[in-house]
Amino acid sequence: MSESLLIEPVSFVRPPSLVREGDVAVLTHPHTGLGYRLNHTAAAMFESLREPITLGELRARFAAEAEEGAESAEAFVRRMRELGFVDVRDADDASAGMRRRYLDLLKKALVNLIYPEHELRLYHLEHTPTTGDRLADQRRLRDLRYVDAPTFDEIVACKRDGQNFRRLVTRYSHTMVGLRRLENLEWCASELFAAGVEGDFLEAGACQGGASIFMRALQVAYGEPHRRMWVADSFAGLPEPVSEPDAGIDFSESKQPWLAASLDAVRDNFRTYDLLSDEVQFIPGWFSETLAAAPVERLALLRIDADLYASTMDVLTALYDKVVPGGFVVVDDYHAFVVCRRAVDDFRASRGITAPLRRVDWTAVYWQKTA
Ligand SMILES: C[S@@+](CC[C@H](N)C(=O)[O-])C[C@H]1O[C@@H](n2cnc3c(N)ncnc32)[C@H](O)[C@@H]1O
Repeated sequence: MSESLLIEPVSFVRPPSLVREGDVAVLTHPHTGLGYRLNHTAAAMFESLREPITLGELRARFAAEAEEGAESAEAFVRRMRELGFVDVRDADDASAGMRRRYLDLLKKALVNLIYPEHELRLYHLEHTPTTGDRLADQRRLRDLRYVDAPTFDEIVACKRDGQNFRRLVTRYSHTMVGLRRLENLEWCASELFAAGVEGDFLEAGACQGGASIFMRALQVAYGEPHRRMWVADSFAGLPEPVSEPDAGIDFSESKQPWLAASLDAVRDNFRTYDLLSDEVQFIPGWFSETLAAAPVERLALLRIDADLYASTMDVLTALYDKVVPGGFVVVDDYHAFVVCRRAVDDFRASRGITAPLRRVDWTAVYWQKTA
């Protein structure tokens, strides 16, 4: 990283909050609400970001601590970037602030943290009988986020984390991936762009398309629109379980209709965000039948979000060799579904992949391909 890079906390409206508790400090992310513990030096480094500061200045300020074995300023900035707490940009790049605003707003729109009260309203309309008093019912629906604040808070927390609300599959947002997983995609993409790692992006398992839409937005927002965004899905939901490890796990359309989104719906969702273009290519059909022959040449970012053993394995088998050195593989369901974890572990073992698996949030992991 160059000395002249400007380091700033994300979100100029509501920067991450740092609360000291004795020797440690807890940094809380403004969007995801996730907290991270920082030691004394790291907390002091974060505090010095209150004023615009370059990496060179930060390094000079904490040179003595680094000599005594504390984390270097550069390592600290890398860690904070990966966790989504800081942004790094050329001091003379005036467009970076607008890009941050666009991407932050987009993430909120995609997970539906823009109108979460509508999800509460739909939940109530489905579950609460009307009182018979039309005016009272309308007032209640209008003010519902305050009338039923605990449920509203629960919905918001689920959206931030990408969790199901009361065991209901996410229905009313364009992605079920929470903010942290979107931020991880942003970090992966910015690393790839900064390092000049060429290659397309691909998501296998798109559902309504939100994560793919975000991946395309990253290409556009970072001035890399020539890359392709491949979107692979049956566009008819998950297959019925066929492999032995998946036995008994039936998420097919007849059991989980909300995990099936049509190609028309996904295309329309891309269009809604003004991100549908020739570089967005759809691969409709079962992974086992489509991916090996798809005209994908090289991938810099492969995102797998397909729940099952067979589906995850089909994607890795067909596409892993197309991931370029330095490229990232992100697996959404690693900790959420044992069968997904098993597929990833089996594949990595069979190919002797030792690149460390890194955790994104409560479910997702990623690794960077070394060779
Ligand atoms: C959990 S959803 C994906 C969520 C999505 N990434 C998002 O941003 O909300 C899983 C998707 O994987 C697709 N899928 C799973 N297995 C598949 C297979 N073997 N072939 C094609 N599509 C598959 C399903 O159709 C479904 O749309």
